[in-house]
Amino acid sequence: MRLKDKIAVITGAGAGIGRACAVEFAKEGAIVIAADINSQGAFETSKLGAGITPVKVDVADGASVAMLAEFVVSKYGPVDILVNNAAIQVSKSVEETTDEEWARQLAVNVGGVFLCTKHFLPQLKKTRGAIVNMSSVNAFFVEPYCAGYCATKAAILAFTKAVAIDHGRDGVRCNCICPGYIDAGLAEAYFLSQPNPDAARQAAGGLHALGRVGRPEEVARAAVFLASSDSSFTTGSAMVVDGGFGSGLPVGGR
Ligand SMILES: NC(=O)c1ccc[n+]([C@@H]2O[C@H](COP(=O)([O-])OP(=O)(O)OC[C@H]3O[C@@H](n4cnc5c(N)ncnc54)[C@H](O)[C@@H]3O)[C@@H](O)[C@H]2O)c1
Repeated sequence: MRLKDKIAVITGAGAGIGRACAVEFAKEGAIVIAADINSQGAFETSKLGAGITPVKVDVADGASVAMLAEFVVSKYGPVDILVNNAAIQVSKSVEETTDEEWARQLAVNVGGVFLCTKHFLPQLKKTRGAIVNMSSVNAFFVEPYCAGYCATKAAILAFTKAVAIDHGRDGVRCNCICPGYIDAGLAEAYFLSQPNPDAARQAAGGLHALGRVGRPEEVARAAVFLASSDSSFTTGSAMVVDGGFGSGLPVGGR
């Protein structure tokens, strides 16, 4: 019970990695607010563990995030943990990406991290809490046809370090996780956008030293570590949870 009675807000908790974080945090004793733009997804997550409350939020909308922060503090008290996980991915070349797609991707993936951090920091300073941001190996290794997504994930690395530096003296730690391919929504959508989704999935597994894509709970357990006092001297870091991405043998190699 490494998170016993800790109040944890997890964005994008209605599916995939965010859902797995909600479940793992609840198992560790946290009181979880599963926040997602997809209220049905958040509701389904709430049925997967004790003490998970579903809430609808659009992390790209300042008013929506402000309402979430007010709701949480009035119902549960100051937040101990914020997991900024919500994101979208546009799998297109730069030329094909519309201005609206570019703007929305930035607003959700980077703007959402900014807005949630801004609105929850006053509470996190009171609790001397922890922020866990979800970046990606795409912050370091870019892949075809997702330039905007890679740019947002690289931005999260710098933002994480900046928040860690600005608020370390307040007792707030801020770290990020860089997953490789994980068997969850964004990777699935990427596979489906490729000409041959099965081949894309197989090739993705082959890019990892472990020869497979990861499972959402394998990322969630890293999030538990970064959110708990087990990582009390870790801040501003990028924890890579990628099965050895980039060092794997090509499919069919030996
Ligand atoms: N799946 C992967 O292979 C992979 C790899 C590296 C990093 N990541 C990162 O992990 C995180 C989760 O990815 P996933 O694959 O689980 O995605 P997913 O699509 O399964 O889940 C993302 C969730 O975010 C929610 N969401 C989207 N826009 C939102 C908004 N404006 N406000 C609130 N919620 C919103 C969606 O409704 C969804 O429930 C993302 O930050 C992603 O960049 C994923």
